[in-house]
Amino acid sequence: MLVLGIESTCDEASAAIVENGRIIHSNIIASQSKLHQRFNGVYPEYASRKHVEILLPVIQKALAKAGAAPKDLDLIAVAQKPGLIGSLLVGMNTAKSLSMAWNIPYISVNHIQAHIYAAMMDCDPPKFPALGVVISGGHTILFKMRGIDEYEKLSSTIDDSIGEAFDKAATILGLPYPGGPEIEKLAEDGDISVFPMQPCKIKNNPLAFSFSGLKTKILYLAKGLNANKHSPLIIGEKEKKHLAASFQHAALSDIVEKSLQACKISGFQHIYLGGGVTNNKYLRTLFEQKSPSTIAIHHPPPGLSLDNGAMIAGLGYHLFQKNPQSDPYDMEVVSTGGI
Ligand code: KG4
Ligand code: ZN
Repeated sequence: MLVLGIESTCDEASAAIVENGRIIHSNIIASQSKLHQRFNGVYPEYASRKHVEILLPVIQKALAKAGAAPKDLDLIAVAQKPGLIGSLLVGMNTAKSLSMAWNIPYISVNHIQAHIYAAMMDCDPPKFPALGVVISGGHTILFKMRGIDEYEKLSSTIDDSIGEAFDKAATILGLPYPGGPEIEKLAEDGDISVFPMQPCKIKNNPLAFSFSGLKTKILYLAKGLNANKHSPLIIGEKEKKHLAASFQHAALSDIVEKSLQACKISGFQHIYLGGGVTNNKYLRTLFEQKSPSTIAIHHPPPGLSLDNGAMIAGLGYHLFQKNPQSDPYDMEVVSTGGI
């Protein structure tokens, strides 16, 4: 079964052609992150307008790279939630229109579930029960998984998501958006013992997350007590590296420790990780150092950490196998929520 996957939940327009949920024939990603740099984050209206311009050419490119024509497709899968409402609408209406024009079914997919599915694309078959860990720009969630689309939420963040915390910490240090890769680069030459930072513990919920305290800590260390984000830096380049390293270490150790703790409590032997922050190499190092040999850690394959159409097509294939029906054309997009 050949599936076209369409992803446009935020500032990436992506289309992919995937066979039987696993074999990726093409995965074209047009990122707008450079365009949004001057806003220090994604400007929603601008993102959706750009999607209107680039989504159809991206789909054409995906078909051409896969050597496929519309008549070869069996299904269109599209990200329906959660995300920026205007961006979601562009993807959803494109999927519906192509489904009508090409006379093939379309199916809507939860973008968060698709991030986790990305880590399963190399596993044939994926193993359950398992722990799902979503660490993206919009979400930080741990959940129990009994199957590809059977989820039960265990915990989430009570304030910023981890990706958002990386982006805000980077802004404080004067680094461009998106901040995650910039912090990771800066942290390479930093020393975590210079500005030690502790991850936040939440009373009565040991698996929940909070990153706003780390963000405030970095603000005060970089700009002085009671500073605000517009205050000038009071540290030099060397200290910036130490701060980036300490922030990264505290935030990512928190993810690793709470994930392993959740596995211990539930007896899970597999962890599937998804979302943009899984791009971080230090995260992989921490998991390697801290995981017992009884727990298998599944990261997304290269190129499938950030938003992409392949994960949407892959999950769409499985959902359609389970319930082979096109979604109704009056289905709405949903901006909020997780799983
Ligand atoms: O999953 P994603 O592409 O979009 C959402 O669904 O939110 O994740 C984007 C987030 C951004 O916050 C970005 O800073 C973060 O992923 N990110 C990273 C790295 N690469 C991207 N965070 C830490 N280290 C990285 N190498
Ligand atoms: Zn995402």
